Amino acid sequence: MAVALPMAAAAAAVVEHTFVVSQVGMTHLCQETLVTVVNGQLPGPAIEVTEGDWVAVHVINKSPYNMTIHWHGVKQRLNCWADGVPMITQCPVRPNHSFTYRFNVSRQEATLWWHAHVSCLLGCVHGAFIIRPRHGASSYPFPKPHREVPLVIGEWWQTDLGQIDKSLTNSFFGFNPSSATINGKLGDLNNCSGGLVEEGYVLEVEAGKNYLLRLINAALISEYYFKIAGHKFTVVAADANYVKPYTTDVIAIAPGETVDALLVADAAPERSNYMVALANQPSITNPPFPVTVTRGTLRYLNDGDDPAAAGDDAPPPLGPEMPGLHDMMPSFYFHGNLTSLRLAHPRGRTVPAHVDERLLVTLSMGSVCRNGGESCARGGSIDHSSVVVNGTGEQPQQLYTPLPERPPRPFNFTDRAFIPIGPTEAEAQLEPTRKATTGQRFLYGAAVEVVFQNTAVMQSDYNPMHLHGHDMFVVAQGHGDFDAARDVPARYNLVDPPVRNTVLVPSLGWAAVRFVADNPGVWYLHCHYEFHVAVGMATVFVTEDGPTVGSALPPPPADLPKCGGGHGSSLDAMENDLL
Ligand code: C2O
Repeated sequence: MAVALPMAAAAAAVVEHTFVVSQVGMTHLCQETLVTVVNGQLPGPAIEVTEGDWVAVHVINKSPYNMTIHWHGVKQRLNCWADGVPMITQCPVRPNHSFTYRFNVSRQEATLWWHAHVSCLLGCVHGAFIIRPRHGASSYPFPKPHREVPLVIGEWWQTDLGQIDKSLTNSFFGFNPSSATINGKLGDLNNCSGGLVEEGYVLEVEAGKNYLLRLINAALISEYYFKIAGHKFTVVAADANYVKPYTTDVIAIAPGETVDALLVADAAPERSNYMVALANQPSITNPPFPVTVTRGTLRYLNDGDDPAAAGDDAPPPLGPEMPGLHDMMPSFYFHGNLTSLRLAHPRGRTVPAHVDERLLVTLSMGSVCRNGGESCARGGSIDHSSVVVNGTGEQPQQLYTPLPERPPRPFNFTDRAFIPIGPTEAEAQLEPTRKATTGQRFLYGAAVEVVFQNTAVMQSDYNPMHLHGHDMFVVAQGHGDFDAARDVPARYNLVDPPVRNTVLVPSLGWAAVRFVADNPGVWYLHCHYEFHVAVGMATVFVTEDGPTVGSALPPPPADLPKCGGGHGSSLDAMENDLL
């Protein structure tokens, strides 16, 4: 329950919630499915705080699965213990156990979200995390909205998501959602024969008023294009960092990302308008992936009357014209057009002009098998090594080999000839994937640059790379192979780049980020495409303590959950802990 603090400059409060995680049966598309949710809701409850507040969430795990909750984008300064990454910052909360996450939310505003960080359950254990300015809505750097509307884009899976990871052997092919959702509603484009028409999400607006849409992509596997017929958006924040107002009729939002956008209800009020969220698909596959889409409605309220009064003779709603399913350019432009609002602001930060550490990280598919088999069709990898996090005994350990600074064997990373799942001779040589526990250690205060380079090896996916515990300046993106001599002078924006916790690395392209390693602790870095992280597209960044008490990681809370499996447990036991 949020302690309401209506007036300006209120003292920091403690916002407290109880999250009961359990399985409930939900029926859509003529089928009942067992879904793991928080407090019986999908999406789960929104957490609403004022910047500076403390948060205490009591997680009571009544599900049959191990559980952790991650507060996606919350920086957790000197508090990685509350970051909720199983076997990296904590042992999971076992079934019939509970744990209280306690953390502070400072120096960030706008929309974030929370989700389970155990395999695939983020698809149903998630909700909004809204941070309002300390000095009230009048201190928003944009006109005060009439109303704020969280829009959680998700997916409806007709399968128990807690079982997917167990049931897959070596490939995620064949696992697809049955529908996209907006705030849990499937919409009328998805139906089963003889079943009820699925309800769509309805947003009611008053003509002339201004609405703040808080969009979250909580889907497991897809970037979405979002449009509302007859309306434009003004994007004002992304990943809880304000951006210079950017007007567009399409929002592109990748898994893990959030976008805050203003919508002015300025269309003809007699007519309703459809809103559509469509999952884009970077490449044409064989067999083709099914289209994942949802449709809702934006409806004008007439003075005082109820919307149904529009009656049967109302014209049918207008539909938006969506980008092509395989057209990645709207996403490239959307991401490339965002610029930061407040870097020059007293509370803003500046982009490091010089860097102390540089990494070139390639993102690939490989053929390391999950269960010790010889050769498998697909596995995700980061820098030519699948990561497996090492956990033993009472608490997870941080044992790892350093992430190579650059790929050991450079090649033409984005050569389309590699895309078809071979294995051809050429691919076999380029794909030295191995199972390894990798990490990178940084001195406190180091300025770091990472160039993420997507490769064409057996796929052409985009990868939304999410770094815990930090925001990153996204200084550049491009297509093809990164070339420092050409791209640094031509493309780097060191003046007002967007500040994000998730960087979308374009299909067959690259993205460059800079950040300062000023948060001592152990921080997960992974693709937010859930099937990629499940097969190893992940590593850790470790920042060492600084010289003062205020720059050193305190010890973990005494009640942090303990791992099962006894002492000296093997990787297999650890995998069991995770599943
Ligand atoms: Cu939203 Cu590690 O994730």
